Amino acid sequence: MLVSNKKKYIKEDLINSTPYIRDLLKYVSNKIIPFQCPGHKAGNSYLNFYKKILKKYLFELETNEIPLIDTFQNPTKGLRESQEKVAKIYGVYKTFFIVGGSTLSNIIALSSLVNDNNEILIPRNAHKSVFSALIVSGVKPYFVYPEYDYDFNVDHNLDINKVLSKVKEFNIKNVLISNPTYYGSCIDIKRLALTLKEIGKDIVLVVDQAWGSHFKFNSEFPTCSTDYADIIIMSPHKTLSAFTQCSFLHIGNSLLTKKPEIIPKIEQTVLMLSTTSPNSLLLFSMDYTQFELHNPKIFQKVYSISNFIQKEIKKIDEDIILTFDKLKNKAGVDQRDITKIVINMSKYGLSGYELEEILINRYKIQVELADLFNVVFLITVGDNYKKARYLINAIKEIINDLKRGYIKVRNILRRIKELPDWPELAITPRQAFTSKYKYVELDNSYGLISAELITTYPPGIPIIIPGEVITKDIIEHIKNEIKYGGKITGFSDKTLKTIRVVE
Ligand SMILES: Cc1ncc(COP(=O)(O)O)c(C=O)c1O
Repeated sequence: MLVSNKKKYIKEDLINSTPYIRDLLKYVSNKIIPFQCPGHKAGNSYLNFYKKILKKYLFELETNEIPLIDTFQNPTKGLRESQEKVAKIYGVYKTFFIVGGSTLSNIIALSSLVNDNNEILIPRNAHKSVFSALIVSGVKPYFVYPEYDYDFNVDHNLDINKVLSKVKEFNIKNVLISNPTYYGSCIDIKRLALTLKEIGKDIVLVVDQAWGSHFKFNSEFPTCSTDYADIIIMSPHKTLSAFTQCSFLHIGNSLLTKKPEIIPKIEQTVLMLSTTSPNSLLLFSMDYTQFELHNPKIFQKVYSISNFIQKEIKKIDEDIILTFDKLKNKAGVDQRDITKIVINMSKYGLSGYELEEILINRYKIQVELADLFNVVFLITVGDNYKKARYLINAIKEIINDLKRGYIKVRNILRRIKELPDWPELAITPRQAFTSKYKYVELDNSYGLISAELITTYPPGIPIIIPGEVITKDIIEHIKNEIKYGGKITGFSDKTLKTIRVVE
């Protein structure tokens, strides 16, 4: 008895001296049910054969580059073969396995494409990495603002006509589209690509398809941009089985004829900005993903589970779920990715953050994203019907309890009706980032130019970026996010009281 107690204390001592490991173990012992990425969902998507290999050889597999294995800097063996297989199945000219997430892929793409002397059109609701790329590359952005949905209080994708007219008006030669958005809204990428080609044969189209690595593999999913775009970025850790931090950077075939001179620049930039010690376990998982892509049954199952959840939630309460049927006539949603289940319980007065809290506390369900109004559940290759039914049942119980008044709602949404208007861009993000700055009280910052990129994470769509003019509505919105549960990042003042502005 005494001996086992002693052992227990030694174990506890050890665990407490490694605080991050302590927290990870706490997460594991809580047995959380993830409706978030990584897409392998605690290894559920892996074949037992590969799981056993990982369990048995974890440390041996985590190795540096040696001649026996392939090298990232100059792949000639298995790594090259695996990258070529991915390129082939997506139908692109070339694929790079990137180990810094799509964050790095976005920065690589824009850095090799643009410089201080040219311009790019981007959606204002792009991921923060796109804005980081603007700061790194110095390029001048033209924004197109997304289509706002007043029913669900989400930004959808862009109206193609607005994209085209801006490209024509300013003779823009580079266009980046985020497809899908965090909420699953897609632009008709084929129509966009073909129309851009008619406007100018030299216009380069980059698609941040971080959330859509699965698109190509079932006809029920939205159009995959690999057949149409010049540079395509994907996060196979989000919806496929790759480990967190993995990304595919694809060069589309169209770039070969359009602007072949960019291709060596992309290759060089990949090597310039990537680590020289890529983690072999990450590369392992991307090779596994490559193998997974060759099995269409996996993607049929992902579609069927997503469709099942959508149908069942519609039966519980049709109003709470965002479906393509409700969006058909809205601009900015030509297609929708059904694997993103968006739930909005505003009609019961419940905010997205409150719903997130109920789901984790009562059901141990971890959502992919919560915002003031919605939660998003992510269905991936790692899901199964058992978990789907568990989720549906949780939603059913919550709705029943809301109807009976058993859940206390804070009625936040009586005070917050919608998201604020996008702020105006006064100078480029790089100009603002490199300017002299000062700190001012957040409350007194309206009318000044932000030098910081402030966002809730997730989704990482910036509320304000360097170069934009802070408005009273933006200040109010930031304060609401802080007060009601948003995970705000980007303030250099960690008390969140002051903000860095251009002097
Ligand atoms: C649209 C979009 N692009 C890029 C990224 C960055 O991806 P990663 O997490 O792989 O760096 C994200 C992350 O959520 C995203 O939502």
